[in-house]
Amino acid sequence: MLIDRFGRVITNLRISVTSRCNLSCFYCHREGYSAENELSVEEIGEIGRAFRTLGVKKVKITGGEPLVRSDIAEIVGVLNIFDETSMTTNGIKLGKLASELKEAGLSRVNVSLDTLDEEKYKLLTRGGELKKALNGISEAVSVGLTPVKLNMVVMKGINVDEMWEMVDFAREFRGDVILQLIELMKLPWNENNYYDLSEIEKELKKIASKVKVRNMQRRRQYFLDGVVVEVVKPYDNSEFCKACNRIRVTADGKIKPCLMRNDNLVDIRGLKGKDLISAIKKAVQLREPYYKG
Ligand code: GTP
Ligand code: 5AD
Repeated sequence: MLIDRFGRVITNLRISVTSRCNLSCFYCHREGYSAENELSVEEIGEIGRAFRTLGVKKVKITGGEPLVRSDIAEIVGVLNIFDETSMTTNGIKLGKLASELKEAGLSRVNVSLDTLDEEKYKLLTRGGELKKALNGISEAVSVGLTPVKLNMVVMKGINVDEMWEMVDFAREFRGDVILQLIELMKLPWNENNYYDLSEIEKELKKIASKVKVRNMQRRRQYFLDGVVVEVVKPYDNSEFCKACNRIRVTADGKIKPCLMRNDNLVDIRGLKGKDLISAIKKAVQLREPYYKG
Protein backbone atom coordinates (compact mmCIF):
# COMPACT_ATOMS: atom_id res chain seq x y z
CA MET A 1 0.00 0.00 0.00
CA LEU A 2 1.14 3.56 -0.71
CA ILE A 3 0.78 5.87 2.28
CA ASP A 4 2.28 9.35 2.45
CA ARG A 5 3.77 11.16 5.45
CA PHE A 6 0.35 12.55 6.30
CA GLY A 7 -1.33 9.16 6.47
CA ARG A 8 -3.10 9.59 3.15
CA VAL A 9 -3.52 6.33 1.24
CA ILE A 10 -3.05 6.60 -2.53
CA THR A 11 -5.92 4.80 -4.22
CA ASN A 12 -6.20 6.76 -7.47
CA LEU A 13 -3.72 7.16 -10.28
CA ARG A 14 -4.19 9.85 -12.93
CA ILE A 15 -2.06 9.19 -15.94
CA SER A 16 -1.73 11.80 -18.64
CA VAL A 17 -1.14 10.11 -21.98
CA THR A 18 -0.55 13.26 -24.03
CA SER A 19 -0.21 17.01 -23.67
CA ARG A 20 -1.73 17.54 -27.09
CA CYS A 21 -5.31 18.68 -27.38
CA ASN A 22 -7.63 19.24 -30.32
CA LEU A 23 -9.25 22.17 -28.47
CA SER A 24 -7.67 25.13 -26.75
CA CYS A 25 -9.98 26.22 -23.92
CA PHE A 26 -8.92 29.63 -22.70
CA TYR A 27 -9.20 28.77 -18.99
CA CYS A 28 -7.45 25.39 -19.09
CA HIS A 29 -5.02 24.51 -16.29
CA ARG A 30 -3.14 22.13 -18.58
CA GLU A 31 -3.07 19.44 -15.96
CA GLY A 32 -0.71 16.90 -17.47
CA TYR A 33 1.35 19.41 -19.37
CA SER A 34 4.79 18.57 -20.56
CA ALA A 35 6.29 19.22 -23.97
CA GLU A 36 8.40 16.09 -24.00
CA ASN A 37 7.91 12.75 -25.74
CA GLU A 38 4.83 10.79 -24.84
CA LEU A 39 5.05 7.48 -23.03
CA SER A 40 4.51 4.41 -25.21
CA VAL A 41 1.76 1.87 -24.60
CA GLU A 42 4.35 -0.48 -23.11
CA GLU A 43 5.69 2.17 -20.76
CA ILE A 44 2.18 3.08 -19.66
CA GLY A 45 1.45 -0.60 -19.01
CA GLU A 46 4.63 -1.00 -16.94
CA ILE A 47 3.77 2.05 -14.82
CA GLY A 48 0.14 0.96 -14.43
CA ARG A 49 1.14 -2.51 -13.24
CA ALA A 50 3.58 -1.07 -10.70
CA PHE A 51 0.91 1.17 -9.18
CA ARG A 52 -1.54 -1.74 -9.20
CA THR A 53 0.97 -3.88 -7.31
CA LEU A 54 1.24 -1.06 -4.80
CA GLY A 55 -2.48 -1.18 -4.07
CA VAL A 56 -3.85 1.58 -6.30
CA LYS A 57 -7.46 0.76 -7.16
CA LYS A 58 -8.55 3.19 -9.84
CA VAL A 59 -6.92 4.80 -12.83
CA LYS A 60 -8.00 7.89 -14.72
CA ILE A 61 -6.63 8.47 -18.20
CA THR A 62 -6.19 12.20 -18.81
CA GLY A 63 -4.42 14.57 -21.19
CA GLY A 64 -4.26 17.00 -22.90
CA GLU A 65 -6.95 15.17 -24.78
CA PRO A 66 -6.44 11.39 -24.52
CA LEU A 67 -8.45 10.63 -27.67
CA VAL A 68 -5.94 12.36 -29.96
CA ARG A 69 -3.68 9.33 -29.47
CA SER A 70 -4.26 6.82 -32.23
CA ASP A 71 -3.30 3.98 -29.86
CA ILE A 72 -5.75 5.01 -27.14
CA ALA A 73 -7.70 1.73 -27.21
CA GLU A 74 -4.46 -0.17 -26.60
CA ILE A 75 -3.66 2.16 -23.71
CA VAL A 76 -7.05 1.39 -22.19
CA GLY A 77 -6.31 -2.30 -22.74
CA VAL A 78 -3.04 -2.28 -20.80
CA LEU A 79 -4.63 -0.26 -17.98
CA ASN A 80 -7.62 -2.57 -17.76
CA ILE A 81 -6.16 -4.17 -14.64
CA PHE A 82 -7.72 -1.79 -12.08
CA ASP A 83 -11.09 -1.94 -10.34
CA GLU A 84 -12.02 1.05 -12.47
CA THR A 85 -10.40 2.47 -15.61
CA SER A 86 -11.94 5.80 -16.58
CA MET A 87 -11.07 8.77 -18.77
CA THR A 88 -11.57 12.52 -18.89
CA THR A 89 -12.09 13.79 -22.43
CA ASN A 90 -13.51 16.76 -24.30
CA GLY A 91 -15.74 14.31 -26.17
CA ILE A 92 -14.98 15.60 -29.68
CA LYS A 93 -13.73 12.21 -30.90
CA LEU A 94 -15.83 10.14 -28.53
CA GLY A 95 -18.73 9.55 -30.94
CA LYS A 96 -16.49 7.44 -33.18
CA LEU A 97 -14.47 5.78 -30.42
CA ALA A 98 -16.93 5.05 -27.59
CA SER A 99 -17.73 1.47 -28.49
CA GLU A 100 -14.09 0.52 -29.18
CA LEU A 101 -13.08 2.01 -25.83
CA LYS A 102 -15.84 0.15 -24.03
CA GLU A 103 -14.68 -3.09 -25.60
CA ALA A 104 -11.08 -2.38 -24.58
CA GLY A 105 -12.23 -2.20 -20.95
CA LEU A 106 -12.99 1.45 -20.24
CA SER A 107 -15.46 1.76 -17.34
CA ARG A 108 -16.79 5.30 -17.76
CA VAL A 109 -15.96 8.80 -19.02
CA ASN A 110 -16.04 12.40 -17.82
CA VAL A 111 -16.73 14.85 -20.62
CA SER A 112 -15.92 18.57 -20.43
CA LEU A 113 -19.02 20.59 -21.32
CA ASP A 114 -19.22 24.20 -20.20
CA THR A 115 -22.05 25.45 -22.38
CA LEU A 116 -24.93 24.27 -24.56
CA ASP A 117 -24.62 27.26 -26.86
CA GLU A 118 -22.81 26.51 -30.14
CA GLU A 119 -21.26 29.95 -30.56
CA LYS A 120 -20.12 30.17 -26.98
CA TYR A 121 -18.65 26.67 -27.20
CA LYS A 122 -16.68 27.73 -30.25
CA LEU A 123 -15.33 30.80 -28.45
CA LEU A 124 -14.50 29.02 -25.20
CA THR A 125 -12.73 26.12 -26.86
CA ARG A 126 -11.27 28.26 -29.65
CA GLY A 127 -12.92 26.53 -32.55
CA GLY A 128 -14.62 23.41 -31.16
CA GLU A 129 -17.90 22.07 -32.55
CA LEU A 130 -20.49 21.56 -29.83
CA LYS A 131 -22.38 19.01 -31.95
CA LYS A 132 -19.43 16.64 -31.87
CA ALA A 133 -19.11 16.79 -28.08
CA LEU A 134 -22.86 16.20 -27.70
CA ASN A 135 -22.68 13.28 -30.07
CA GLY A 136 -19.79 11.90 -28.00
CA ILE A 137 -21.88 12.12 -24.86
CA SER A 138 -24.84 10.27 -26.37
CA GLU A 139 -22.63 7.54 -27.79
CA ALA A 140 -20.88 7.12 -24.42
CA VAL A 141 -24.26 6.73 -22.75
CA SER A 142 -25.53 4.31 -25.36
CA VAL A 143 -22.52 1.98 -25.13
CA GLY A 144 -22.63 2.09 -21.32
CA LEU A 145 -19.59 4.18 -20.40
CA THR A 146 -21.71 5.31 -17.48
CA PRO A 147 -22.26 7.22 -15.36
CA VAL A 148 -21.00 9.88 -17.75
CA LYS A 149 -19.96 12.93 -15.76
CA LEU A 150 -20.31 16.29 -17.45
CA ASN A 151 -17.57 18.62 -16.25
CA MET A 152 -18.90 22.18 -16.23
CA VAL A 153 -16.36 24.74 -15.02
CA VAL A 154 -18.59 27.56 -13.78
CA MET A 155 -17.17 30.95 -14.79
CA LYS A 156 -18.25 34.51 -14.15
CA GLY A 157 -19.31 36.36 -17.28
CA ILE A 158 -19.34 33.11 -19.24
CA ASN A 159 -21.78 30.42 -18.15
CA VAL A 160 -23.13 30.98 -14.62
CA ASP A 161 -26.54 31.70 -16.17
CA GLU A 162 -26.56 28.32 -17.95
CA MET A 163 -26.26 26.19 -14.87
CA TRP A 164 -29.92 25.21 -14.52
CA GLU A 165 -30.20 24.52 -18.23
CA MET A 166 -27.29 22.16 -17.82
CA VAL A 167 -29.04 20.45 -14.89
CA ASP A 168 -32.07 19.88 -17.15
CA PHE A 169 -29.85 18.58 -19.93
CA ALA A 170 -28.22 16.05 -17.59
CA ARG A 171 -31.65 15.03 -16.25
CA GLU A 172 -32.77 13.97 -19.72
CA PHE A 173 -30.36 11.03 -19.53
CA ARG A 174 -32.37 9.49 -16.68
CA GLY A 175 -29.60 8.70 -14.26
CA ASP A 176 -26.85 7.90 -16.78
CA VAL A 177 -25.37 11.40 -16.54
CA ILE A 178 -24.07 13.26 -13.50
CA LEU A 179 -23.47 17.00 -13.73
CA GLN A 180 -20.20 17.97 -12.10
CA LEU A 181 -19.93 21.70 -11.31
CA ILE A 182 -16.29 22.71 -10.97
CA GLU A 183 -14.95 25.84 -9.39
CA LEU A 184 -12.41 27.48 -11.66
CA MET A 185 -8.84 26.97 -10.64
CA LYS A 186 -7.44 30.49 -10.85
CA LEU A 187 -4.54 31.06 -13.14
CA PRO A 188 -3.07 34.33 -14.40
CA TRP A 189 -4.96 34.03 -17.68
CA ASN A 190 -8.42 33.29 -16.24
CA GLU A 191 -8.71 34.84 -12.77
CA ASN A 192 -11.23 37.49 -13.84
CA ASN A 193 -13.67 34.66 -14.46
CA TYR A 194 -13.45 33.11 -11.00
CA TYR A 195 -16.87 32.38 -9.53
CA ASP A 196 -17.42 31.16 -5.99
CA LEU A 197 -19.77 28.17 -6.03
CA SER A 198 -20.95 28.66 -2.42
CA GLU A 199 -24.19 30.41 -3.40
CA ILE A 200 -25.06 27.74 -5.92
CA GLU A 201 -24.34 25.07 -3.30
CA LYS A 202 -26.77 26.75 -0.92
CA GLU A 203 -29.49 26.64 -3.57
CA LEU A 204 -28.75 23.02 -4.38
CA LYS A 205 -28.92 22.12 -0.71
CA LYS A 206 -32.38 23.65 -0.41
CA ILE A 207 -33.87 21.56 -3.18
CA ALA A 208 -31.92 18.31 -2.77
CA SER A 209 -33.66 15.25 -1.35
CA LYS A 210 -30.29 13.92 -0.19
CA VAL A 211 -26.74 15.26 0.07
CA LYS A 212 -23.89 12.79 0.05
CA VAL A 213 -20.32 13.79 0.90
CA ARG A 214 -18.04 11.71 -1.24
CA ASN A 215 -15.26 10.53 0.96
CA MET A 216 -12.76 11.34 -1.71
CA GLN A 217 -11.82 14.98 -1.39
CA ARG A 218 -15.02 15.98 0.38
CA ARG A 219 -16.99 16.46 -2.79
CA ARG A 220 -20.70 16.92 -2.27
CA GLN A 221 -23.30 15.15 -4.35
CA TYR A 222 -26.77 16.71 -4.41
CA PHE A 223 -29.61 14.38 -5.31
CA LEU A 224 -32.19 16.47 -7.17
CA ASP A 225 -35.37 15.32 -8.84
CA GLY A 226 -34.10 12.83 -11.46
CA VAL A 227 -30.47 13.97 -11.52
CA VAL A 228 -27.34 14.09 -9.39
CA VAL A 229 -25.20 17.25 -9.25
CA GLU A 230 -21.69 17.00 -7.82
CA VAL A 231 -19.74 20.08 -6.74
CA VAL A 232 -15.94 20.26 -6.90
CA LYS A 233 -14.47 23.16 -4.93
CA PRO A 234 -10.75 22.62 -4.77
CA TYR A 235 -9.89 26.27 -4.33
CA ASP A 236 -8.38 27.12 -0.98
CA ASN A 237 -10.00 24.03 0.45
CA SER A 238 -7.89 22.27 3.06
CA GLU A 239 -10.49 19.50 3.31
CA PHE A 240 -9.77 18.77 -0.33
CA CYS A 241 -6.11 18.18 0.42
CA LYS A 242 -6.67 16.31 3.67
CA ALA A 243 -8.57 13.62 1.84
CA CYS A 244 -6.48 13.62 -1.33
CA ASN A 245 -5.92 10.05 -2.49
CA ARG A 246 -4.48 10.83 -5.92
CA ILE A 247 -1.18 10.80 -7.64
CA ARG A 248 -0.39 11.82 -11.18
CA VAL A 249 1.96 10.81 -13.94
CA THR A 250 2.74 13.36 -16.65
CA ALA A 251 2.68 12.54 -20.35
CA ASP A 252 6.45 12.18 -20.40
CA GLY A 253 6.69 9.85 -17.40
CA LYS A 254 7.19 12.00 -14.33
CA ILE A 255 5.33 11.47 -11.10
CA LYS A 256 3.57 14.68 -10.05
CA PRO A 257 2.85 14.37 -6.34
CA CYS A 258 0.44 17.35 -6.25
CA LEU A 259 -1.78 18.92 -8.91
CA MET A 260 -0.87 22.39 -7.68
CA ARG A 261 2.91 22.08 -7.87
CA ASN A 262 5.48 21.50 -10.55
CA ASP A 263 8.61 21.76 -8.45
CA ASN A 264 8.75 18.25 -7.06
CA LEU A 265 8.30 15.96 -10.05
CA VAL A 266 10.03 12.57 -10.05
CA ASP A 267 11.18 11.07 -13.34
CA ILE A 268 10.28 7.38 -13.61
CA ARG A 269 10.76 6.98 -17.34
CA GLY A 270 12.67 3.87 -18.28
CA LEU A 271 12.56 2.38 -14.79
CA LYS A 272 11.38 -1.19 -14.38
CA GLY A 273 10.63 -3.73 -11.67
CA LYS A 274 12.11 -2.97 -8.24
CA ASP A 275 13.63 0.35 -9.35
CA LEU A 276 10.26 1.57 -10.53
CA ILE A 277 8.55 0.49 -7.33
CA SER A 278 11.10 2.21 -5.14
CA ALA A 279 10.99 5.45 -7.20
CA ILE A 280 7.19 5.49 -6.82
CA LYS A 281 7.48 4.98 -3.06
CA LYS A 282 9.98 7.85 -2.85
CA ALA A 283 7.73 10.18 -4.83
CA VAL A 284 4.84 9.39 -2.49
CA GLN A 285 6.94 10.60 0.42
CA LEU A 286 7.19 14.00 -1.29
CA ARG A 287 3.44 14.50 -1.05
CA GLU A 288 2.16 17.18 1.29
CA PRO A 289 -1.14 19.05 1.52
CA TYR A 290 -1.02 22.23 -0.59
CA TYR A 291 -3.79 23.97 1.34
CA LYS A 292 -2.94 23.30 4.95
CA GLY A 293 -6.04 24.91 6.47
P1 GTP B 1 -13.86 11.14 -10.80
O1 GTP B 1 -14.83 11.75 -9.83
O2 GTP B 1 -13.24 9.90 -10.25
O3 GTP B 1 -14.45 10.90 -12.14
O4 GTP B 1 -12.66 12.16 -11.00
P2 GTP B 1 -12.66 13.72 -11.24
O5 GTP B 1 -14.02 14.24 -11.38
O6 GTP B 1 -11.82 14.33 -10.21
O7 GTP B 1 -11.86 13.83 -12.58
P3 GTP B 1 -11.80 14.94 -13.68
O8 GTP B 1 -10.59 14.60 -14.48
O9 GTP B 1 -13.06 14.99 -14.45
O10 GTP B 1 -11.54 16.30 -12.92
C1 GTP B 1 -12.56 17.17 -12.56
C2 GTP B 1 -12.01 18.41 -11.90
O11 GTP B 1 -11.39 18.13 -10.64
C3 GTP B 1 -10.96 19.13 -12.73
O12 GTP B 1 -11.16 20.52 -12.60
C4 GTP B 1 -9.69 18.73 -12.08
O13 GTP B 1 -8.67 19.63 -12.30
C5 GTP B 1 -10.09 18.70 -10.62
N1 GTP B 1 -9.22 17.83 -9.90
C6 GTP B 1 -8.99 16.56 -10.18
N2 GTP B 1 -8.08 16.03 -9.33
C7 GTP B 1 -7.75 17.02 -8.47
C8 GTP B 1 -6.84 17.08 -7.38
O14 GTP B 1 -6.17 16.15 -7.04
N3 GTP B 1 -6.74 18.26 -6.73
C9 GTP B 1 -7.45 19.33 -7.12
N4 GTP B 1 -7.28 20.46 -6.42
N5 GTP B 1 -8.32 19.31 -8.16
C10 GTP B 1 -8.47 18.16 -8.83
N1 5AD C 1 -10.14 25.04 -13.32
C1 5AD C 1 -10.93 24.00 -13.04
N2 5AD C 1 -11.12 22.98 -13.86
C2 5AD C 1 -10.49 23.01 -15.02
N3 5AD C 1 -10.49 22.14 -16.04
C3 5AD C 1 -9.66 22.61 -16.99
N4 5AD C 1 -9.13 23.79 -16.61
C4 5AD C 1 -9.63 24.07 -15.39
C5 5AD C 1 -9.47 25.12 -14.48
N5 5AD C 1 -8.69 26.17 -14.74
C6 5AD C 1 -11.26 20.91 -16.03
C7 5AD C 1 -12.04 20.62 -17.30
C8 5AD C 1 -11.68 19.20 -17.63
C9 5AD C 1 -10.95 18.70 -16.41
C10 5AD C 1 -9.88 17.71 -16.68
O1 5AD C 1 -10.36 19.85 -15.88
O2 5AD C 1 -13.41 20.66 -17.00
O3 5AD C 1 -12.83 18.41 -17.82
